[in-house]
Amino acid sequence: MDYNNVLSTTDNHITTITINRPNKLNALNKETIAELSHAIGTAEEDELTRVIILTGSGEKAFVAGADIAEFAHFTTDEGKRLAAHGQETLFDAIENCSVPVIAAVNGFALGGGLELAMAAHIRVASDNAKMGLPEVSLGVIPGYGGTQRLPQLVGKGRAMEMIMTAGMIDAQTAHRFGLVNHVVEQEGLMEFATILATKIMRNSPVAISAAIDAVNAGYVDGVDGYQAEIDNFGSSFGTEDFVEGTTAFLEKRKPSF
Ligand code: COA
Repeated sequence: MDYNNVLSTTDNHITTITINRPNKLNALNKETIAELSHAIGTAEEDELTRVIILTGSGEKAFVAGADIAEFAHFTTDEGKRLAAHGQETLFDAIENCSVPVIAAVNGFALGGGLELAMAAHIRVASDNAKMGLPEVSLGVIPGYGGTQRLPQLVGKGRAMEMIMTAGMIDAQTAHRFGLVNHVVEQEGLMEFATILATKIMRNSPVAISAAIDAVNAGYVDGVDGYQAEIDNFGSSFGTEDFVEGTTAFLEKRKPSF
């Protein structure tokens, strides 16, 4: 499918989805959110896709936020709908995607851009990346999950400071905070993300989906993550991947998933 603001290519079971509005620093307008959501859903359904890498086009930005021009004249109701629709169709969909999603943060990840990276399962940043939630400088608050996922990743105190100051942190600080797992030179970013994806792809995709589900369960109000783990652990025993994984181990060979 052809998109206006998103590129999606699959190579070697890795689908790379690139936000492609470089002249607007890849800011997320409505159309881009819809296209991204569609691209993620399509990749998740595609049996050829084992890992999704999400990145931004150009050397300057991953995503510089929600498109400010688009929401500048919104009413309170429109604002609420914007956040609800975005969270449901894109940000929560990424977090709950059954295929692993790696964000390769190649530059500015601000506002909705950082929220997009935080919805991914794993974040890798280039050394020029800058991250922040500058919404309060515009008189709004993060609306795509930032007030929830940032404290989960960096702790409440650091999240409060980042949100209240609206400041940016560099890639090294983001690494120290645990906001990104790795920092690499910009030229090596996609190669690094691909190596990480390749390590993931050696393992059972069915078990990985079940693990994503169990980890996420612990962050949902009213859901017992330990019980989700017990359920998903049990279900694993009924899968072909379990037979293959354990048989391969006992036969001293590599599993073929
Ligand atoms: N929404 C809409 N347009 C955006 C945007 C956003 N979030 N971020 C950048 N752009 C646009 C700029 O308006 C500019 O467009 P123009 O050339 O048509 O005027 C273009 O992208 C380039 O950005 P510019 O500001 O000229 O680049 P810069 O290098 O001077 O500054 C930033 C880079 C990231 C510091 C700056 O663009 C910025 O502060 N962006 C907004 C970040 C933000 O507050 N995001 C949270 C939104 S909730």
